[in-house]
Amino acid sequence: MKALAGANEVVPLPFRASSLHGLSERLITSHHDNNYASAVKNLNLVERQLAGIEATTPPFVVAALRDRELTFRNSKTLHEAYFGNLGGDGKRGGKVETALADAYGGSARWEEQFRMTGLGLGGGSGWVVLALELEGGALRTVASGNHTQSLESSVPLLVMDMYEHSYQMDFGAAVPRYIDAFFANVRWDEVNARFERGLRVAAAWNS
Ligand SMILES: [Fe+2]
Repeated sequence: MKALAGANEVVPLPFRASSLHGLSERLITSHHDNNYASAVKNLNLVERQLAGIEATTPPFVVAALRDRELTFRNSKTLHEAYFGNLGGDGKRGGKVETALADAYGGSARWEEQFRMTGLGLGGGSGWVVLALELEGGALRTVASGNHTQSLESSVPLLVMDMYEHSYQMDFGAAVPRYIDAFFANVRWDEVNARFERGLRVAAAWNS
């Protein structure tokens, strides 16, 4: 695919917006159609602007466009991963649970750490990501205060949006209730599928 084509497309929700437990159709639809879709639309606009830069374009304009490009691209990626890991019954299992138990001394201990990381971002903005680091193949739980503080060289396995637009409409400032609802809707089969694919990438990366 051509770089800077400005042809990124909005991916539809992979579940019925009314089907989640404790996260309203209005909230999910607004989040998808406004926040996520705007990021994709803006990414396309920024790419077209970047495609048009010339030797006479002021460097600060290029710098600002590159900043926005990374913000919107990561927002697109993270939102697609977020919606993609919702729509399930929240029942953790499979290979990723075993790996989390090994890495954190119990998968419940990992969940506690992930939840507390989310609470740390409550009232503000950001993401919590369970990631598979390609270098060495370790599981990491990372927080980003915006769309750009990602762990370099890693595969996102489970992604939780902590921007207020993810919960304000349903829960006000009651962040713990949103995190409960998030975990009740996680599609662990999707997380396991990402883990399997990530392990193959990590194996190749470290070979
Ligand atoms: Fe969001």
